[in-house]
Amino acid sequence: MTPGVRPLIAGNWKMHGTLREAAALAEGVRAGAAASRAELLICPPFPHLVPVAGALGDGVGLGGQDCHAAARGAHTGDVAAAMLRDVGATYVILGHSERRADHGEADALVRAKAEAALAAGLVPIVCVGESEAQRLAGAAEAVVTGQLDGSLPDGFAAAGGVVAYEPVWAIGTGRTPTEAEIAAIHAAIRANLEGRFGEAGAGLRILYGGSVKPGNAKGILALPHVDGALVGGASLVAADFLAIAAGVPDAA
Ligand code: 13P
Repeated sequence: MTPGVRPLIAGNWKMHGTLREAAALAEGVRAGAAASRAELLICPPFPHLVPVAGALGDGVGLGGQDCHAAARGAHTGDVAAAMLRDVGATYVILGHSERRADHGEADALVRAKAEAALAAGLVPIVCVGESEAQRLAGAAEAVVTGQLDGSLPDGFAAAGGVVAYEPVWAIGTGRTPTEAEIAAIHAAIRANLEGRFGEAGAGLRILYGGSVKPGNAKGILALPHVDGALVGGASLVAADFLAIAAGVPDAA
């Protein structure tokens, strides 16, 4: 944890669930949210944003999983940042490795989307992370800092932007880096943020994501410069998501 920073535990529901399942899951998260020391955030699929917001109530934040770089226009199938804000979202995940892989999103586009998010009053959660081949080649830190340089807009720190370190090979695999490896990358991200944004970079939240479970969350969340988690699979079970949130250090 970074001293003085409230941890953020975010659930990325990805492309899972029916409306009924989403509402039940949100009710489950709501039921345990008051006991959490961490800030809680749920990012459902677009069609579920409004009902999930209602089911979550005021104690749990709402976020989108992506937005378009343009404010509006003829972009069939896309969603504008202002639309997310309009339905109650305050965050948006951008540059997730699944978007980078499935839709060919490169750093410049992620940066443009983050600028659109800031313009609409959303806090961007910008994802970075190396592939397994890149890690094996010893390039993890260089890949991640390069993604930060290319993906973060200038207004990022002033808006309290969030970085999520998600090694691609750890997502949905049950595999994670060692705690020392996570700490090393988070320290490199912190140095990059401070180098770019000065003092403001010292207080930005850096989340870890990739096979976070109740069993490993406590150790990961205790690491320096790990200020929360971005949770995929385990966020689809309310009890597991809440157990992960319960793993934030006492001092947080
Ligand atoms: P898993 O927790 O399922 O590994 O997914 C992580 C992730 O991609 C969150 O954005």
